[in-house]
Amino acid sequence: MLTLDALAGLSQADVVVHDALVDRRVLALAGPQARLEFAGKRGGRPSAEQDDISNRLIELARAGKRVLRLKGGDPCVFGRGGEEALALKAAGVPFRIIPGVTAGLAGLTAAAIPATLRGINRAIILAAGYGADQDGVDWGALARTGQPIVLYMAMRNLAKIADELMRGGLPPTTPAAIVVSATMVDERIVLSTLDRVAADAQAHQLGAPSIIVIGNIVSVRERLIDAVHMAESEAAR
Ligand SMILES: C[S@@+](CC[C@H](N)C(=O)[O-])C[C@H]1O[C@@H](n2cnc3c(N)ncnc32)[C@H](O)[C@@H]1O
Repeated sequence: MLTLDALAGLSQADVVVHDALVDRRVLALAGPQARLEFAGKRGGRPSAEQDDISNRLIELARAGKRVLRLKGGDPCVFGRGGEEALALKAAGVPFRIIPGVTAGLAGLTAAAIPATLRGINRAIILAAGYGADQDGVDWGALARTGQPIVLYMAMRNLAKIADELMRGGLPPTTPAAIVVSATMVDERIVLSTLDRVAADAQAHQLGAPSIIVIGNIVSVRERLIDAVHMAESEAAR
């Protein structure tokens, strides 16, 4: 899912400062001159503080390096790309922001779940599920839109979010899917319903990185999947 613009950045960079969600096959595309620096922030692992990462980017740029800050998906979708760009701007460091393909959309398409389909939805909601116990997302209000909801970083709070969506009026039978490691070699897709999705995630021992999609678009997958399988087995021949 790498964009060609990011690929050009990889081949030109002196230093690639990357996070944990970047596939090692992508890192292997860096030019021979490039030094790889890990600056990941991921639950359970030693994580660099956000200010440290921004300061490191500024330090490298001021040392005359051409720096690529490489993240999974799109840098500005729950990726702190905006925050880092603001820090560079404040420091007077020139930069460009390269778009990526966000997991919440690529992950759906890869799982044969169309993000939009005429007659089913005319909007799609991308929401972060971390901190759902303290933050101000009004899950009931999102439920009342009737539009599909794609959750990032939501595994820990999934039971609570699902409850609030049902209290907000979404039927317990609303189709749901969990897409783990979307577009990667260990991709997994588990189909469920809103009332069971948290229990199913636990039963299948699903972890990060995962997106969860809740809404009637999920059931379109059943109508597509035979054709997808057929094309995959033909491609493998
Ligand atoms: C810090 S956010 C970064 C999102 C990223 N900037 C993007 O646009 O996809 C990390 C979360 O994105 C989702 N995610 C990222 N890559 C994923 C993948 N390959 N498969 C499923 N979910 C993914 C997961 O919810 C993960 O916890």
